[in-house]
Amino acid sequence: MEKLEMLYEGKAKKVYRTSDPDLYVVEYKDDATAFNGLKKGTIIDKGIVNNKMSAFFFKMLEDRGVPTHFEKLLSDREMLVKAVKIVPVEVLIRNYAAGSLSKRLGIKEGTRLNCTVLEFCYKNDELGDPFINEDHIKAMGLATEEEVKVIKEYSLKVNEILTEYLLKKEIILADFKLEFGRYGDKIVLADEISPDTCRFWDAKTMEKLDKDRFRRDMGGVEEAYQEVLRRVIGE
Ligand code: C5P
Repeated sequence: MEKLEMLYEGKAKKVYRTSDPDLYVVEYKDDATAFNGLKKGTIIDKGIVNNKMSAFFFKMLEDRGVPTHFEKLLSDREMLVKAVKIVPVEVLIRNYAAGSLSKRLGIKEGTRLNCTVLEFCYKNDELGDPFINEDHIKAMGLATEEEVKVIKEYSLKVNEILTEYLLKKEIILADFKLEFGRYGDKIVLADEISPDTCRFWDAKTMEKLDKDRFRRDMGGVEEAYQEVLRRVIGE
């Protein structure tokens, strides 16, 4: 398997074609953006943290019956993944009020929600990833009814598995974002699971151990990424 030309460069990752048409190489960058690209910066070694943490979680989820695009780790910043076609829908899963939900609904950040809230956004930078519902997804042909059912099922299962695991590491999984892809006729979990895409709070102090430290200029960003990786994978 040979790494060939770059196919796509996103805000946090680059995707490369390989000599195997069914596989891509994903390279994780240290570039950090927030507020749909309005805020830009660098988080030193973020690419390494996100690559290692995503690989760890993808393996755990595969073992527990959630199919993912993950094949294997290649280096500190690279993983080999299945060549999926991304479904242009972001799934937001929320256990605690935070971020845009707190703002929209006036619920104080840190409030435990009475039940898990699942939301969808249309993955479209120009439109600023607007919130959509299942009817919009069907109406726009972004995914079929059956695909949406599978995506919801997998998302809730991921939430259960990660929440339980992270609590043992004294981390609250407040909320997170997932993306899915099509591989043949199957839906598989794709993208990443990292402090860029999850809100991780210290279970004792509620200290933020994720990208909110960058978004909100709180300092200690690199330290938080390293700390959460250490707790998650025990390094
Ligand atoms: O911004 P908001 O509060 O809606 O984000 C909810 C969760 O989804 C957060 O964990 C955030 O990191 C993640 N998210 C993301 N990418 C986006 C939007 C949200 O990873 N484009």
